[in-house]
Amino acid sequence: MADTEGIDVIDCTRCPELVESRSGVVNGTGASDAAIVFVGEAPGADEDREGEPFVGRSGGVLDDKLTERGLDRDSVRITNCVRCRPPENRDPNAEELANCREFLDREITGIDPELIVTLGKVPSEHLLDTDVAVTKQAGAVTETRIGDATYRLLICVHPAATFYDGSQEATLDSALDTVAELVGVDTGDGEGSGQSRLGDY
Ligand code: URA
Repeated sequence: MADTEGIDVIDCTRCPELVESRSGVVNGTGASDAAIVFVGEAPGADEDREGEPFVGRSGGVLDDKLTERGLDRDSVRITNCVRCRPPENRDPNAEELANCREFLDREITGIDPELIVTLGKVPSEHLLDTDVAVTKQAGAVTETRIGDATYRLLICVHPAATFYDGSQEATLDSALDTVAELVGVDTGDGEGSGQSRLGDY
């Protein structure tokens, strides 16, 4: 089990507006030695209330998609770029993303996953530091440097994209199939090898 000491943020007052809008800090959940870290944008109302990422409607979609691939919330890590709920569910701004970056980097380097999966435009652009057309690039595997290490990163659409555009479910499914294939998840249908294919990329 990887060392989780210091991964959780107990309290933080770096973003005065978020200190006002949040109930509390929402830390990542799941395995501290996970092979996959899913990174979302920021907590919404449900996450703020329950103190856990992706427990609302988007989280329901993510849970279902993980289960279909022989995964679950406890076997992966789920976290966000920003740990406090922005007011009116607006996107976190550049300053808030920068303020919280240290915590995300610490979480990722502490877990040292085989693969980072960015859920949506905000986390994809934040971790890749470039413009990303998420729906076009979903499923693409690239790399990002965090601290002294280079991590594989797979761009994925946000689960909420499926609410606004039904066709995005196929995009989400396809990207998550690649995730399962890359980390060698045995899906029980004969597809998963149990062997990571990340060395091929
Ligand atoms: N959307 C996110 O990006 N993160 C959450 O935790 C919930 C919804």
